[in-house]
Amino acid sequence: MTRVELRTVDELMDLLHACRGAWDTPDRSGDPVDLHDHALQTAALLRRSRPSDKELQLAGLVHDIGHRLRPGDDAGHADTAADAVRPLLGQRVARLVRLHVPAKRYLAMSDPARGLSPQSALTLEVQGGPMTPAEAAAFARDPLAEDAVTLRQADDAGKVVGLDAGVLEDWRPVAEMIAERVRHNSLEQAHFTDFTPSLRS
Ligand SMILES: [Fe+2]
Ligand SMILES: [Fe+2]
Repeated sequence: MTRVELRTVDELMDLLHACRGAWDTPDRSGDPVDLHDHALQTAALLRRSRPSDKELQLAGLVHDIGHRLRPGDDAGHADTAADAVRPLLGQRVARLVRLHVPAKRYLAMSDPARGLSPQSALTLEVQGGPMTPAEAAAFARDPLAEDAVTLRQADDAGKVVGLDAGVLEDWRPVAEMIAERVRHNSLEQAHFTDFTPSLRS
């Protein structure tokens, strides 16, 4: 299977716009809002709960693009999305995106009374079911665990039919800022790597 990698903010925004009228299940039997509204609601909830963490908010915006990139792959959609955004938005955003499914499995184990949408409850099984206590302990040690759980809570709440959560274009400057930072950091990294041998010699 070919791996999709987004290289520009324009490509990312085009993909997010294409999520209007796209659903988490191709037959529309799943969640009651389309991927476009779900993205905006999830990101808006994170903007409210974590106003200073733009990367977390953007991870919320893009977390389900895997459903658009590879329809019908519930088990793999988080990894597909993480692989797609990593070159553009960096390692932390990609890991937060990837962790939105493990965070669901973690919460299903640690807080079983928590409500999931019927579709999320259904797909939990193909995604591995609730974590075992050992898996949950390992997850909790991840430095991004708390952020991933926060994203997951917004994900579960961001499925309200008819709720206006703003427009996609409001997020373009945020994506551009993060992409610029990632580009800058990778240039610096390359520069450092280039000079390392001469420093050693
Ligand atoms: Fe998802
Ligand atoms: Fe989601």
